[in-house]
Amino acid sequence: MAEHSAGAARPSGAPPQSIREAIHLRRSTRRYADRPVPDEALRHLLAFADQAPHLTAPLCRVTIVNGQERVARILSRYLGIYGLVQGAPHLLVGLVRETKTGAGELAPALLDLGYVLEQVVLEATRLGLATCWMTGSYHPERTADEVEREPGEIVAATVALGYARQDPLARLHDGTIRRLVGAHRRKPLEEIVFAGEWGVPWSPEEADPVLREVLECARLAPSAKNGQPWRFVVESRTEKPPTLHLCLTAPAPIDAGIVMAHVALAAAEMGISGRWVLGGVAPPSPGPPGVIPVGTFLPE
Ligand SMILES: Cc1cc2nc3c(=O)[nH]c(=O)nc-3n(C[C@H](O)[C@H](O)[C@H](O)COP(=O)(O)O)c2cc1C
Repeated sequence: MAEHSAGAARPSGAPPQSIREAIHLRRSTRRYADRPVPDEALRHLLAFADQAPHLTAPLCRVTIVNGQERVARILSRYLGIYGLVQGAPHLLVGLVRETKTGAGELAPALLDLGYVLEQVVLEATRLGLATCWMTGSYHPERTADEVEREPGEIVAATVALGYARQDPLARLHDGTIRRLVGAHRRKPLEEIVFAGEWGVPWSPEEADPVLREVLECARLAPSAKNGQPWRFVVESRTEKPPTLHLCLTAPAPIDAGIVMAHVALAAAEMGISGRWVLGGVAPPSPGPPGVIPVGTFLPE
């Protein structure tokens, strides 16, 4: 498929139907068409965000800024190679209450935000819309001025929302940034999944196809600067689907929340009901120093 054919469309032009299809088709889009998203779709996405399952007691919420000019004021910020995200008619804004943590701890509110906002991103993808997560290339204080906040709420991330521009210049721009950040690249499953304990090789070929697809959906998750800091330890259980222990190689709570959403959604779509337990169940071996245990996905 050509990069950014519609932000989120099959080669036939139709938007993706299933969550797994949306996960496979989603791309970060940085050039948007001069066309607003219909009100009905925006209302649907905000209601979807309000009802989306959280990882914790709700510690985040999603709101929106509408209008190309208002969004452009917020996004007029170059950040290294990222450059400008241009022309977006809407901006989803992730607000959190509390991000303070002890040393080496991940802020639960940011985990929760990654989890909730990625569900909205995938729902937008299913509606044929283009998105781009941003934690760097926007002005947080200008965003804060544009949204109504409750006391104690801060802006923690934004997501550009609209239709992808299809002209050659837009494709060139998006393609260049994608190449610079290596956006199309993902580490192979063998590098991010271990069998039983940290460092023990796991073989996708020998794995149950459902487990392999769930982990493939995790592998395709977006992450800041495409860092892909997630690692999984698969722990087999007799007569039950295996548990998945998630660890991070860098303190990236939003990336962790995003990948947790991919695992939970892909597993549910494939008939595996399960839940994430934060911290609770320790991985069989903690891994090298600096590796941060996040939680365990417990299929029922
Ligand atoms: C938490 C997070 C923060 C991000 N911040 C930015 C950003 O500030 N600017 C930007 O252009 N892209 C940003 N991205 C997009 C990533 O660069 C992109 O997801 C990654 O390169 C993988 O490409 P893909 O989303 O097209 O699969 C961010 C992504 C995530 C998940």
